[in-house]
Amino acid sequence: MSTPPRELLRGVHVAPSILSADFGRLRGQVEEVLAAGARVIHVDVMDGHFVPPITVGPLVVEALSETVRAAGAMLEAHLMIERPERQVSEFVRAGAHSITFHAEATAHAAYTASLIRESGACVGVAVNPGTPPAALAELADVLDVALCMTVNPGWGGQPFIGRSLEKLPRIRALLGSDTGVEVDGGIDSQTAPPCLRAGASLFVAGSAIFHASDPAEAYAAIVRSLQDG
Ligand code: DX5
Ligand code: ZN
Repeated sequence: MSTPPRELLRGVHVAPSILSADFGRLRGQVEEVLAAGARVIHVDVMDGHFVPPITVGPLVVEALSETVRAAGAMLEAHLMIERPERQVSEFVRAGAHSITFHAEATAHAAYTASLIRESGACVGVAVNPGTPPAALAELADVLDVALCMTVNPGWGGQPFIGRSLEKLPRIRALLGSDTGVEVDGGIDSQTAPPCLRAGASLFVAGSAIFHASDPAEAYAAIVRSLQDG
């Protein structure tokens, strides 16, 4: 991998979420966005408990791992599951470079973060729209990325929650400039630029990319919107 995952997470990147991809031709869809320049591929893991839907697990991470690695990109697993500490090693073994768990999903957030760190993966913690940024404060030193949910987790295609723009500066202030601040939910070329100005650096986009007729062009359009500010 040319740029190490930790460095990638410190940069400004659009991270395509495969949740909205066509799973019948998943590798091909990922190859399209990799060819367009994507370097962070976002995999949404849901357990039917923390959020109602059930999606995918380590097998899908493993299936994409070689393709993503070969392109010099990284796989980020966004765990919307209860008791994430029980699953860390499986996702690392499958090839996840970064693991993001929800602050609301475990009573042992610091322990979970240390398990991820010891496994060699990057550490991410996510907060739901109703969770205050303070939930991240005690973990600030160990985080590579803080994920601010900009919709309620569980489904693609929901509208961006405008109040997130007031929350992002508070998250950025807690973490300083060396940590990635990621937004996830309702991100497209309209909503990404104000999030960038509010302190976000990583932009997860699912339906805006994979429901478009040309996912590569849709990815590039969000990148351009960030460059234009
Ligand atoms: C939702 C997931 C998102 C989802 C976003 O809970 O965490 O990553 O793919 O989908 P869009 O970009 O369609 O809002
Ligand atoms: Zn996600």
